[in-house]
Amino acid sequence: MNATIPNANSVIGQPLSRVDGPDKVRGSARYAAEFDIPDLAHAALVHSTVAAGRIESIDTARAAAAPGVLCVVTHENAPRLPYKEMKTRPPVDPQSGEQLHVFQGAEILFNGQPVAVVVARTQEQAEHAASLVAVTYATNGQATDFDAAEPERPAKATEEGGRPAEAGRGDADGALAKAPVSVDVRYSHPREFHAAIEPHVTIAEWEGDRLTLHDKTQWVNNTANEIAHVFGMEQDAVRVISPFVGGAFGSSLRTWPHVTIAAVAARAANRPVRLELTRRELFGSIGFRPRTDQHLMLGADRDGRLRALIHEACGETSVYEEYAETTVKPSLSTYACDDARTSYRLRRLNTNTPCPMRGPGTVTGVFGLECAMDELAVALAMDPVELRLRNHADRDQAKGLPWSSKELKACYATAAERFGWHRRTPAPRSMRDGDLLIGWGMATAVYHANRSAASASATLHPDGSVVVRSAASDMGPGTYTSMTQVAADTLGLPRERIRFELGDTAMPSAPVHGGSITMASVGNAVAAACRALQDKLGELATCARQGPFAGVSTDDIAAHDGGIGRREPPYRVVAYEALLKQHNLTYLEATATSTPGSEIEDYSSSAFGAVFVEVVVDPDLGTVRVPRMVGAYDVGRVVNPKVARSQCLGGMVQGLGMALLEQGEWDPRFGKVMNANLAEYLVPVCADVRELDVTFVPGSDTNFNPLGAKGLAEIAICGVAPAIANAVYHATGRRIRDLPITPEKLLLEAAALTPVR
Ligand code: MOS
Repeated sequence: MNATIPNANSVIGQPLSRVDGPDKVRGSARYAAEFDIPDLAHAALVHSTVAAGRIESIDTARAAAAPGVLCVVTHENAPRLPYKEMKTRPPVDPQSGEQLHVFQGAEILFNGQPVAVVVARTQEQAEHAASLVAVTYATNGQATDFDAAEPERPAKATEEGGRPAEAGRGDADGALAKAPVSVDVRYSHPREFHAAIEPHVTIAEWEGDRLTLHDKTQWVNNTANEIAHVFGMEQDAVRVISPFVGGAFGSSLRTWPHVTIAAVAARAANRPVRLELTRRELFGSIGFRPRTDQHLMLGADRDGRLRALIHEACGETSVYEEYAETTVKPSLSTYACDDARTSYRLRRLNTNTPCPMRGPGTVTGVFGLECAMDELAVALAMDPVELRLRNHADRDQAKGLPWSSKELKACYATAAERFGWHRRTPAPRSMRDGDLLIGWGMATAVYHANRSAASASATLHPDGSVVVRSAASDMGPGTYTSMTQVAADTLGLPRERIRFELGDTAMPSAPVHGGSITMASVGNAVAAACRALQDKLGELATCARQGPFAGVSTDDIAAHDGGIGRREPPYRVVAYEALLKQHNLTYLEATATSTPGSEIEDYSSSAFGAVFVEVVVDPDLGTVRVPRMVGAYDVGRVVNPKVARSQCLGGMVQGLGMALLEQGEWDPRFGKVMNANLAEYLVPVCADVRELDVTFVPGSDTNFNPLGAKGLAEIAICGVAPAIANAVYHATGRRIRDLPITPEKLLLEAAALTPVR
């Protein structure tokens, strides 16, 4: 029964392939739409075709009489829903305004607002019947023109939520006036969409007063919480299940109106209902990265030291909610500068509310800041890397705290070396490949690191396998895999013995799967639960000394072929089955919660990176190609270098899309996105992507959390778009400050600046 086995190697840090990969490839991983529920009915939405006004009449007679239709719900027959105010709003919701109250009145707030839902036996019958609902509207003045809308100060609740209208230190305007070198530049990017592969979908099923939702969500606990408030129920009467999410990028952080509609429809139809948004509906129902205009003014000494930094930004929001971003925040913390100020404004439009999209706010602000730094480097005739090094912030100046760790200088050095930056000739249009213009550009990447309270359980079964659970999510970064590694590492078990489960409110609660906090939060909870299990097992074995385990000390507790308990060899194998049996247990379970501590008062934490890119511009066609991108990142400890690298590849590709392709075409006449499909909303495809090179600089941030991981998701898109824009300038001598950098913009610039060749 006893044997000595070697210590399992640390599983953390190994490039494990995704443990859920085979299920995904085989199609056995079930996404929200794919749950087979008996008697499932299907729903289709009817939307407002005007941007502002009231429903004058809504005729559902033909729809109700259509084949297969079970019910039609509008504001005229929908139940009045309490929409109870939450004591504290979740951080994923706007802190000011009211979420859309579905079917609670005739008022129309945006084009695309749901005005009816049709439930039928099949999806086709529901869609057909939805097309038969006849609605007339009385329109009134619509606010749909961003440029005409008045910029407004954020409300008090928004300011208290960390998006102040004004912030800063020192006398930025005075310092700017005195600075010998300065730049004054404006940037903008349009509305961008998450464009995840999996559409948003909810299956709602009532059993008496209990509601079960199969939902595409990045936060099952919050979905349960919000729906409970909408319906005036106890939170534990709502169960939310979401084991797989096919990409989200922030679009599933909130509980969107269609989740409520699915529950309303299921109650009205008296059977489970599936509501899946169409690709077109995804452009009007679930939020987007808001169009944002930015104005940056930087002042510096001739040696490149920043003397003044002013960053003003204005985004768009809806008329009913105030979605605000941390756009200007990076400008207050990224570089050393005593005199800095920011301002933030919003324009209210008749639109659905924007929402976080990968690196929300930060990716926008870093685009402005890093392009402006490049323009300053040009004005100073200084290498852009050197300019950043001269202004390196040894402390977070916004918070006045030391960084819990910062390897940004190593990121610059590593990426520059791998890129071959020293071969760059600084003058624009100085690097060529025949008729083609070559441009090399770079940018800094930053994304603040956060950590929230999280819980997990670890359950030992008699066969020596351990099931670890937390109500977390895996929208693609590899939570299943990395948490399996953390558990295997803590328990000293081979990873085949671990099964990690997530995405169910019946599990110990987890924070939002967003803001790159999952590893720093849930990862530490998983480790804590596994240690708690070890402790329990130790107690059992100590008690067992009188029985068949006489002589087995706590220190000797170990699993067959792995070792659960002590990390150091030699292990002695204990037969769990016998141990559990002796205590009349069929399993042994431990639960633990991990919370941030005083480190958040002692340190500021952030992931860092440096992105270097090469572009090739065809001066006749205005086309931009990106043959290579090199990124080096400081994300603390890397739990799985394979899935971590994949995160960075995805972020680089998404950044390429932001720089060159992505653009929601908002038509102010209709208050509507006109290219609401994946044929006309352009995202990068394989042919757009060439060589991507990713390095993680060594580091482990145990000042931030015991696991040492800082989080890796948002950082991967930050810095990419400005690096590309800066490279385009280097290639062409032209600054395109309005993303995306399309051929027509480059050609127009060229036509304005140079005679036709
Ligand atoms: Mo990410 S925008 O926090 O899902």
